Amino acid sequence: MDRDLFAIGPVDSCSVKSRFSALPKFEVIGNAGEVPAGKKKRYRCGLADFLVANVDGVYYAMSNTCSHANELLSDGMLVGRQVVCPAHYAVFDVANGQVVRHPEGANIAPIKTYKVKVEDGRISIEIEN
Ligand code: FES
Repeated sequence: MDRDLFAIGPVDSCSVKSRFSALPKFEVIGNAGEVPAGKKKRYRCGLADFLVANVDGVYYAMSNTCSHANELLSDGMLVGRQVVCPAHYAVFDVANGQVVRHPEGANIAPIKTYKVKVEDGRISIEIEN
């Protein structure tokens, strides 16, 4: 079964219509109220898949794909600023994407992070279209 069918909320709410613009720009991906403090949420925009986390009122965005074996980080646990991958328990810092703990027997790459703005209750992230 495609797990995307049961993703929580509007997973693709952004306005990206084309993937061919060269300049990065902020795209609205959702409402701040959908991600309360201490929570995280998956969003998709065009072909990209993001994890947005709210840590004590500060929003962070990163790629939602684990750099080890492509598991969805949004299925893992958020503990403070750290998200734990549900597959092999790698831990990443949502603020900078750095690896806090590698999975056993592997040395993995950091996760790409994105600039986030919250204006008028809407979350925007800077996306290179
Ligand atoms: S897929 Fe994330 S730690 Fe293995």
